[in-house]
Amino acid sequence: MSDQSQALYGGATHRRITIRDLAAAKTRGEKWPMLTSYEQMTAEIFDEAGIPVLLVGDSAGNNFLGEENTIPVTVDEMIPLVRAVVRGSSRALVVADLPFGSYEASAEQALATSIRFFKEAGAHAVKLEGAHLEQVRKLISAGIPVMGHLGLTPQSLHQLGGYRVQGRDDGDAILMAAQSLQETGVFAIVLELIPAELAGRITQALTIPTVGIGAGNSCDAQVLVWTDLMGLTKNPPRLAKAYCNLRQEMLDATAHWAKDVASGAFPGPEQTFH
Ligand code: KIV
Repeated sequence: MSDQSQALYGGATHRRITIRDLAAAKTRGEKWPMLTSYEQMTAEIFDEAGIPVLLVGDSAGNNFLGEENTIPVTVDEMIPLVRAVVRGSSRALVVADLPFGSYEASAEQALATSIRFFKEAGAHAVKLEGAHLEQVRKLISAGIPVMGHLGLTPQSLHQLGGYRVQGRDDGDAILMAAQSLQETGVFAIVLELIPAELAGRITQALTIPTVGIGAGNSCDAQVLVWTDLMGLTKNPPRLAKAYCNLRQEMLDATAHWAKDVASGAFPGPEQTFH
């Protein structure tokens, strides 16, 4: 019987989660949640809620920085976001997403970028899209844990021809890429927008955790973009489920306060100093 006190989610561990904890969870057959976060407040809330891994995703591009997609995001833009999430959390393992153009050219480029995330932002791991094995090898030999990302890799949006389900015809290629990444030493792999059956096959074949997003419920973990989870995103993708309607709540609160300002009801006696 597994010891619930060790559980990644709902367990008694108060120190920072490490990649060894994630490996142990796979051995125990335990599923866990991962969320994106781009600043201090959500990092505090998700950490308090017990989310064991926070991803400072380059989805910050289209969920925080006002970009159309993740492609324009830069390392300089990401560093303060990662630093805020590290400072806002005390338990979660914080993974920094390497932006497009910051790692593909060479293993040396990937190392230089990742070192910035470690030294300037305090990241605990990095994530990169695709099967860049030389880069992964270099980072791990420098002591930098790496999370992989296969299936729909949004930085390759134009090459893929849009946000489309991947692996319907070439599922074995994704399975083989996942196995190569595992052999090279990644500690987990995000599987995005692939058929559930393929994600199940990959999860079975690997000894490291798979983290699904639009990849069915056989994966070891699930990740969502936090603004999709909270109902803030205007046009959320089908793979997401909103658990509250924060957009409407914020619209209502804003209108309520603005009306009170216009009528003179705010500030009231409690907010007034004498
Ligand atoms: O940037 C991001 O938020 C991601 C997740 C969707 C996995 O890569």
